[in-house]
Amino acid sequence: MDNIQADGLLLGPTLVTLEAESGYGLIENGALAWRDGVLTHVGQRDELPEDFIESFDVVLETAGLVTPGLIDCHTHVVFAGNRAAEFEMRLQGRSYEEIARAGGGIVSSVRAVRAASPEVLLAESLPRVRALMADGLTTLEIKSGYGLDLDNERKMLQVARTIGEVCGISVRTTYLAAHALPPEYQGRADEYIDQVIAWMPILQAEGLIDAVDAFCEGIGFSPEQTRRLFSAARALGLPVKLHADQLSDLNGAAIAAEFGGLSADHIEYTSAASVQAMREAGTVAVLLPGAFHVLRETKLPPIAELREAGVPMAVSTDCNPGTSPLLSLRQAMQLACTHFRLTPEEALRGASIEAARALGLSDRGRLRVGMRADFALWRAQHPAELCYWLGGELCQAVYAGGTRI
Ligand code: NIG
Ligand code: FE
Repeated sequence: MDNIQADGLLLGPTLVTLEAESGYGLIENGALAWRDGVLTHVGQRDELPEDFIESFDVVLETAGLVTPGLIDCHTHVVFAGNRAAEFEMRLQGRSYEEIARAGGGIVSSVRAVRAASPEVLLAESLPRVRALMADGLTTLEIKSGYGLDLDNERKMLQVARTIGEVCGISVRTTYLAAHALPPEYQGRADEYIDQVIAWMPILQAEGLIDAVDAFCEGIGFSPEQTRRLFSAARALGLPVKLHADQLSDLNGAAIAAEFGGLSADHIEYTSAASVQAMREAGTVAVLLPGAFHVLRETKLPPIAELREAGVPMAVSTDCNPGTSPLLSLRQAMQLACTHFRLTPEEALRGASIEAARALGLSDRGRLRVGMRADFALWRAQHPAELCYWLGGELCQAVYAGGTRI
């Protein structure tokens, strides 16, 4: 299989197309063809004319499942060091918020990122990205937010772009300088937001920002500060998304909706009124069961209300050194099923087509002619197995833009 590059044909697998708005869209004994990075045929093997098969240089017989390449739409995967010591502290009874207020938490990762050269930051981040790829990933969102000054935010975003080039996956970068207050701005949060706003067009002009995010929370930034940042982002034509209502309800999801946000993420404490605002704005709910699990959160996101309102639900790893050191999107799908009671079908859609929507991408996330040839091959008979196994090596091969990665 290693010799497939720009075009090819897979014969025999079960295709999980996610073609319609619901259902797996299964095609048994399928045929999947691509040319120049785009899917050119998605259907049943039996329907293929002989001369169609002959037109491909490379034809592969394979069993198992083929799904769209997985899309992780919320990560902080670029960081230095780790926070295993805080994990131990939490097990000794300290809370995430307590640790953050005592100068640990996000700010301790800021110290590590500021001290790391771009080379070290890349070298430490790459194995995490490769772990995600080994479980079916083809598109990855990466946030800044551990630099918290112009040069270090730039360093993070440049490393994120380099990861895309080195790994052959699509990387979308999100500017999250409003993640925490850096120590040098203690007591001056409004001034810091002014700076965050001032850096934004500079980094945008360097091609480093695809979207803008903030941490709207008691230990993060206020709704007013978030609105100020979002107004500036909107003036620059940048889409927004928000760490919303993770630890308390500050109407964060409604603020994301107010600015036509791509997504509101976490949303454990989101109210029914905010769910309606999301529905009206078309804002995606990004569920992050890894952080829920690691923080031993007990407040569930309003899943029933989201379903009822028809708000699209995405699932992501939130891979970060503090609350979610999670290196498999398939594992995030598993956690979404066990903790949030998503169905395996919702979880798979959440890590593919709905995650694409959360990134504003319409060219991926399902197996359909004309879409990118991003797909993963699994050693499995039924898609529910992707959410059923904890760990293990299910993924056989991953193709991004028609190239095996
Ligand atoms: O998504 N909530 C804020 N940001 C991250 C945690 C980052 C950290 O603790 O380093 C999150 O959970
Ligand atoms: Fe996050």
